[in-house]
Amino acid sequence: MTTIDTTRRWPVISFRIVATGVATLVLLQAALAGSFLSGNFESLAAHARNGGMTTAALLLQTAVAALAWRMGSGAVQLMVASLAQTLVAAVLIPLGHHRILTVHVPLAVLLAIGVLIVAARSWRSESSEIR
Ligand code: HEM
Repeated sequence: MTTIDTTRRWPVISFRIVATGVATLVLLQAALAGSFLSGNFESLAAHARNGGMTTAALLLQTAVAALAWRMGSGAVQLMVASLAQTLVAAVLIPLGHHRILTVHVPLAVLLAIGVLIVAARSWRSESSEIR
């Protein structure tokens, strides 16, 4: 592998790792909500904590996607999608605290779908590029 190959590959590999981590956090978030609704009340605090971690991880994913794009090995759409998902996650936090669940739950489901699509896409590309 040449130096150029290595330089182009590491943002792609970093993006895959971060996107997979975000997907795991979002699925955990849904599981914690289910646990809370089953009567485990301490899961609500864990859901709130994990919500903050998910939002921070999405911000990191946006930064890595921007880096991959600027270095020519990532698609701009993945950066735009990551930024949009960061904003949605940030909006979900006050919606959760104010118990506006009619908006919170469907928006969270849409976020989970989007996050899983981005994570799957990051692994699907045949070349080293995330297009
Ligand atoms: C993935 C599916 C999700 C479901 C089904 C879900 C569902 C819920 C439910 C049922 C509550 C409890 C409201 C109550 O106290 O009665 C809640 C609260 C909350 N959710 Fe979610 N949520 C999801 C994802 C998220 C995400 C992605 C975030 C943030 C990025 C988030 C942040 C919060 C916060 C901050 C609260 C308030 C917790 C508190 O008051 O201590 N949720 N959610």
